[in-house]
Amino acid sequence: MTITKSTAAKSAILALVAGTLLASGTALAQGGGPTPKTAEEAAGKQVFHQCAACHSLDSSKNAFGPSLYNVVGRKAGSIPRFDYSDALKASNITWTEDSLRQWIAGNDKFVPGTRMRHVAITDRAEQDYLIAFLKSLKQ
Ligand code: HEC
Repeated sequence: MTITKSTAAKSAILALVAGTLLASGTALAQGGGPTPKTAEEAAGKQVFHQCAACHSLDSSKNAFGPSLYNVVGRKAGSIPRFDYSDALKASNITWTEDSLRQWIAGNDKFVPGTRMRHVAITDRAEQDYLIAFLKSLKQ
């Protein structure tokens, strides 16, 4: 089997995260939200630290940003009582792996006029982890 550079890097990160989790069982409990079931979800939860200031992991609570609970499969701008930008409401996006990837790679390029501060997660592995974590935010 040929191991590509990025696969190797990805495994290294996963091993690192898994090791950290084993070393400190409490890491899983921190920050609220569901307990990650896979190393990918756990790595995604780490990446989510960049989002947590504005997005609650509580299933129903909106913070500065809308709740991301059940976000995969949801229509953009559709949470009641959250004051979305007109740009996001009019975007006609459904949140799938693909659209989420474009959003986290450069949200203001994907939806010009969005109210969410610029984020740029361009590393493919980090995107995969974050999306795996977002997918786990459901019942
Ligand atoms: C500085 C605060 C802030 C940060 C940091 C932030 N967001 Fe947001 N997010 C928002 C706001 C505000 C909105 C609503 C945007 C709008 O209405 O245009 C939003 C909207 C979203 C949406 C659309 C949800 C929906 O209901 O349509 C997703 C998905 C999202 N953010 C994911 C993320 C992820 C993933 C990160 C971390 C990489 C992140 N956000 C970081 C504030 C933030």
